[in-house]
Amino acid sequence: RTIEWRVDARAPKPEELAEAAGLLREGDTVAFPTETVYGLGADARSDEAVARIFEAKGRPSDNPLIVHIADRAQLAGLALPWGELAERLMDRFWPGPLTLVLPAAPGAVSSRVTAGLDTVAVRMPSHPVALALIAASGCPVAAPSANRSGRPSPTLAAHVAADLGGRIAGIVDGGAAGVGLESTVVEIDGETVRILRPGGVTAEELREVVPRVEYDAVAAPGAGMGTATAAGDSRAADSERLAASPGDDVPVRSGSAAASSQGLRPTSFSADPVVHPATVAAQPPGLSADAALAPRSPGMKYAHYAPRGVMELVQGDAEARRAYIRREAHAARARGERAGILTFDERAGGYDADDVLSLGSLARLETAAQSLYAALREFDDRGTQRIWAESVPETGIGHALMNRLVKAAGHRVVRV
Ligand code: TXA
Ligand code: MG
Repeated sequence: RTIEWRVDARAPKPEELAEAAGLLREGDTVAFPTETVYGLGADARSDEAVARIFEAKGRPSDNPLIVHIADRAQLAGLALPWGELAERLMDRFWPGPLTLVLPAAPGAVSSRVTAGLDTVAVRMPSHPVALALIAASGCPVAAPSANRSGRPSPTLAAHVAADLGGRIAGIVDGGAAGVGLESTVVEIDGETVRILRPGGVTAEELREVVPRVEYDAVAAPGAGMGTATAAGDSRAADSERLAASPGDDVPVRSGSAAASSQGLRPTSFSADPVVHPATVAAQPPGLSADAALAPRSPGMKYAHYAPRGVMELVQGDAEARRAYIRREAHAARARGERAGILTFDERAGGYDADDVLSLGSLARLETAAQSLYAALREFDDRGTQRIWAESVPETGIGHALMNRLVKAAGHRVVRV
């Protein structure tokens, strides 16, 4: 029931996209490649069309969507005057993986897109297929990532088909998406640009063109891996971490409901004996469970990207990390659990584990970004029950990569 079109990613022909554009115009949902991840598009002006996105994804309705445009002329109808700083960001980063949260022009898009906020998030993607499809549809296109809520974002059409096949009208297959992680979401506050979600445009790049770049608490480097407590900590502490975890898709319930809604197995996790000194991160200062946690980006209050297995992110000196992962994976296997390791080419050898997946060379974090979500899906496909992931330096795209790894690990960050 879901139509698939295979198109030339670099130079899609108008006739290849005509049917997909027609479906968008008629109020249906179509998935398409962007330079970040695949998006699930619908006419942003139509309540019914946008409702179909939420329904297909199983997405909570209070999580607003990004509106995708093909040219600057389309923006005028969507946002109120946005100022010089926003203009400078658009000049430098559009088309590309930067989403701007701007004052919304009342009534311009469905209130389901903005979730009732008085702002609208807009981006102009640089992928030729996305641009051509949006232009051909003639609509501003609301598009979240084209995954079922709580699954890793799709970087291939096959991922979209696996999650949403039969639930959406069509999939435009343009091969692999680009960056592999979502766009950077920013808001503008006077002279300051605040990063609400780290992504394809790095903080370093933003700093080249704007005077001040800040992070929202949940988006800062190190967010979600603050103060240390002992490993194998109480289950209560674990569910508290989950309850406040930033993310953007699945509503988090407290306690064991939160754990089971993500396929976690808190019993086996928290029952692990502590056999060596290690630490698990708790909330960073800005994320205490009682915080008047009103994330600037509503989606940040949802857990996200969780693989079905229980994942732990391991920080610290390379040798200590390796020793810890080897010991833990070995112990998991001895208990009869299927053990997986998410690592890099340089470190992949010598592990006793069922599923050792490499994100490529440590020297090329761009490649790791492109591979991350596919690797998380691979663990799910293989039924991996326990996963240990290596941390990366938080510079450049490494910051967005760590942000997603921390979420995928449900904030289980171990420092060895
Ligand atoms: O790279 C991307 O941005 C991909 C591709 C498809 O363009 N899209 C994407 O959409 O990641 P989604 O829905 O998975 O994430 C949108 C994020 C959420 O965290 C949401 O809360 C935030 O943008 N957002 C949307 N509108 C907002 C608003 N008005 N104010 C603050 N945050 C907003
Ligand atoms: Mg998403």
